Amino acid sequence: MIKFTSVTKRYSEPELALKDVSFHLKEGQFSFMAGHSGSGKSTVLKLAHMAEHPTLGNVYVNGFSSRRTAQRDVWRLRRQVGFIFQDFRLLPNRTVLENIAFVLEVINTPRKEIGRRAEMLLTQVGIETKSSRMIEDLSGGEQQQVAIGRALASNPVLLLADEPTGNLDADSTKKIMDLFWSINHSGTTILMATHDLNLIQDHPEARLLELKRGELIKDSEPKMGY
Ligand SMILES: Nc1ncnc2c1ncn2[C@@H]1O[C@H](COP(=O)(O)OP(=O)(O)OP(=O)(O)O)[C@@H](O)[C@H]1O
Ligand SMILES: [Mg+2]
Repeated sequence: MIKFTSVTKRYSEPELALKDVSFHLKEGQFSFMAGHSGSGKSTVLKLAHMAEHPTLGNVYVNGFSSRRTAQRDVWRLRRQVGFIFQDFRLLPNRTVLENIAFVLEVINTPRKEIGRRAEMLLTQVGIETKSSRMIEDLSGGEQQQVAIGRALASNPVLLLADEPTGNLDADSTKKIMDLFWSINHSGTTILMATHDLNLIQDHPEARLLELKRGELIKDSEPKMGY
C-alpha cells in the first residue's frame, strides 16, 4: 500500500529531513509513525500524499509512483487516500452536514445521493445527532469525528493522519482511536503520526515505525526484502 525505498528528503535547508528511509506498509495494516518533533513524521505523510516529492529514492502509494505521477494526476491518488490533520481544517461557519456534503459534491456524488451518503458517513463516525450544528459549536473531539467522516467520503483505501489526537483530551483521544480501529478493521490501511508515547503503549497491536532526526530507527515488524 505504501512503499518507501531509500527515500531522502531535503527541503531548502542543507540538513536532510529524511535519510534513506525504507519501509513497506501492507494493505490492511495499522501503523504509528513515531518520533520527536522535527524527526520527519509529517514529511513521511506528505510524501505518501505526494504533496512533496523525494529528493532521492522512490515512494509508491497504492500503485502510484512518485517518479511517474505527474502533478496533474495527483488528484487521482488523493481520491484513494484520506488525510486527517491535528487542527481538523473543516469549513468554519458551516454545519457538520454542509462540511460533508461539500466534499461529496467535489467528488461528483450524484446530487440525489448526497443526503443519504452524508447521513451514512456521519453515522459511521458517530456524529449523526449533531448534523445541523455549526462547526464552531463542536468540541475538538467532535470536530475530528467530522474530519474523519470527510476523509472517508471517497471510500479511501488508505488514511494518513498527522497527530490527529494532538489537540484532544484523553476521552476524545480514546474515542478517535476506537474509530480508527473500526475503520481499519473494515479494511482501510492507516498510517498515523504521533509523538504520544502513552498512546503508542496503549496500542501494542499496531505496527510501530520510529524516526529519529530523519532516520528510521525502529520497525516493530521484522524487516522484509524489498
Ligand atoms: N517546507 C519545509 N521547508 C523547510 N524545512 C522543512 C519544511 N517542512 C519541514 N521541514 C524540516 O524538516 C524536518 C522534519 O520536519 P517534519 O515536519 O517532518 O517533522 P515532524 O516529525 O512532523 O515534527 P512535529 O512533531 O513537530 O510535527 C524539520 O527539521 C523541519 O524543520
Ligand atoms: Mg509534524
